[in-house]
Amino acid sequence: MKREMSLEFCRVTEAAALASYHWLGRGDKNAADDAAVHAMRYMLNGIKMSGEIVIGEGEIDEAPMLYIGEAVGEGGDGVDIAVDPIDGTRMTALGQANAVAVLAACDKGGFLKAPDMYMEKLIVGAGAKGAIDLNLPLKENIENISRAMGKPCSELTCVTLAKPRHESVIKMMHEMGLKVYAFPDGDVAASILTCMPDNDIDFLYCIGGAPEGVISAAAVRALDGDMNARLLPRDVAKGATPENIEKGREESRRCQEMGINPGTVLHIEEMVRNDSSIISITGITDGDLVSGVTLNGSLARTETLLIRSSSRTIRRINSLHQLNRKSSTLYELVFGKEKDQTSL
Ligand code: FBP
Repeated sequence: MKREMSLEFCRVTEAAALASYHWLGRGDKNAADDAAVHAMRYMLNGIKMSGEIVIGEGEIDEAPMLYIGEAVGEGGDGVDIAVDPIDGTRMTALGQANAVAVLAACDKGGFLKAPDMYMEKLIVGAGAKGAIDLNLPLKENIENISRAMGKPCSELTCVTLAKPRHESVIKMMHEMGLKVYAFPDGDVAASILTCMPDNDIDFLYCIGGAPEGVISAAAVRALDGDMNARLLPRDVAKGATPENIEKGREESRRCQEMGINPGTVLHIEEMVRNDSSIISITGITDGDLVSGVTLNGSLARTETLLIRSSSRTIRRINSLHQLNRKSSTLYELVFGKEKDQTSL
């Protein structure tokens, strides 16, 4: 994919983060998500490309915008696009740390088209590449990571999500002497953090969303890390209640339709098939990976991490936005009201 597309994608996640800002701490995660989706779609449609949403807000019958299969862009080269307009909708609604707007794009056919279900994920940075295998018990993987990193288990740090389903795994890791950082939500930022060259996290283990998993895989590959994953029907991930069993059956059926076997370990090359990806992540709230949006009158500041897989370049883009100069559509999304034309 052409290098100049990076800046286009940076503008897309910046717009989604700016639009989310209006809803920060207002307790309405759906309204925040709607605003981010609108902003993302609006910006994507202004790019010269023939884009297709391959990971998005859901199936065509459940999401009016950025649904799987939606065509975006003004026409041009074929691009597959995976989006998560807000990873951390609850954190945005509650004004908590680590919410981000994220997009990954690649040449056509590069991303696994995963159904919206749970996924078990194990991720390491470059130092332990090749040392993971989800077919083995987690304990054995941790010992292999420790060997690859050349440090004892008591010096390893794992990042996970603070969810009841992870309680026994967290307990086991504490018994092995590990440090465990448990984020309330948002495993995309946590996955990327694991592979950044300048942090103290050695691996990520969690059960989170599959769409987030494929987006994370794009960043992990671009950062020279490694990832194993497994699609999990809802009853396996969240307990075998009658509703979860029913939903799990439906998810397994979707997997078969898409040619994926739930339960089979997926390797990073199967989730992201080439090195053409560009990944853009803009902070909504302050986090460990990127700073959040700040607004002073009509001057906004954003921070974006822009990663290019082919060159492995990581850029941090700090932007100042004169919101009065943005289009009326974007201005309205950011401020929740029409632009006063006399202020220009
Ligand atoms: P949303 O912001 O889309 O709700 O996702 C937040 C998130 O924590 C993801 O990062 C993670 O993959 C998923 O939810 C976990 O799902 P659940 O909230 O059902 O445990």
